[in-house]
Amino acid sequence: MKVAITGSSGLIGRALTASLQADGHEVVRLVRRAPLAAGEARWDPRAADAGVGGDMATTPLRGVGACVHLAGAGVGDHRWTSSYKAEIRASRVLATRALAAALTRLDPPPRVLVAASAIGRYGDTGGRYGDTGGRDVTEDAPPGDGFLPRLVRDWEAAAGPAAEAGIRTAHVRSGLVLNRSGGVLARLALPARLGLLPRFGDGSQAVSWISLTDEVRAIRFLLDDDGQDGPFNLTAPNPVTNDELTAALHNAFGRPDFRWLRVPAPLLRLALGEMSSELLTSVRVAPRRLAAAGFEFRYPTLSEALAAELRG
Ligand SMILES: NC(=O)c1ccc[n+]([C@@H]2O[C@H](COP(=O)([O-])OP(=O)(O)OC[C@H]3O[C@@H](n4cnc5c(N)ncnc54)[C@H](OP(=O)(O)O)[C@@H]3O)[C@@H](O)[C@H]2O)c1
Repeated sequence: MKVAITGSSGLIGRALTASLQADGHEVVRLVRRAPLAAGEARWDPRAADAGVGGDMATTPLRGVGACVHLAGAGVGDHRWTSSYKAEIRASRVLATRALAAALTRLDPPPRVLVAASAIGRYGDTGGRYGDTGGRDVTEDAPPGDGFLPRLVRDWEAAAGPAAEAGIRTAHVRSGLVLNRSGGVLARLALPARLGLLPRFGDGSQAVSWISLTDEVRAIRFLLDDDGQDGPFNLTAPNPVTNDELTAALHNAFGRPDFRWLRVPAPLLRLALGEMSSELLTSVRVAPRRLAAAGFEFRYPTLSEALAAELRG
């Protein structure tokens, strides 16, 4: 199958591209710069047709059977100033709308669109230790309040035209994707290696995560299974607390775990502003629809995932 991928240079995109190519699929990597290598084609997330719509004779999307849309300005990369928030939003909402429009104009259109989303959609749903108000969140939960939940809601809705045109569309609401080569684990591993990773806030907030291996397997599962569309939580079935994640990381590096080492929530808010919600939000997410579809996690527990994803 010919698969187009946006954001293929990112943590998930690199691994997905390698996985698809290893199985003999042709990958068209949609890049925002001039193409440099075979298999790359330029797209423009800010153009109305994403720079790849329209002319069937010239579009690099010709013959594409599937599209995986992962691109977007990093949510954890910069302080959320109003201009960076606007960039995050445009790079996700406008770009998805443009890409969906381009896909609907193809003849024939691709069979399936798998579009990145995030558990940030749910906001803070409690689920702290000893917090009886907490609940496991499944795909039918309503969006939460705040910048991130609103962004994710609109980002998913932007793919609407593709679904309306009959392209099977799956939204992958990923938790924290764990792998040593990028994302949150690469950032936490640095201080954890020295035994100096602090708890954030009181450490009781729930963290819903997934190994990069299972993230890629789940995306491929959704590409292949013609019966699956709509939102899917891509999170392992065993969320942990920030406290447990910190202890597990120190343990993985054979370091003592100083439980008193903490960054209080007010200090985090002062240092990071609104972006501190990335570290302090508590949400226990259950992968209900993936499980119902028969997907089996290779690394369902954090210790298994860390052992695999920190290797190399
Ligand atoms: N990693 C996680 O823990 C996690 C969790 C939940 C959701 N997600 C979502 O899953 C998707 C992939 O995640 P990832 O971790 O692989 O992301 P990533 O490493 O940050 O890569 C995202 C890619 O998006 C492209 N990009 C960057 N800035 C952009 C902009 N301003 N406009 C358009 N494209 C831009 C870049 O690709 P090019 O330079 O090749 O265009 C970049 O490699 C993202 O949408 C992310 O929000 C990730």
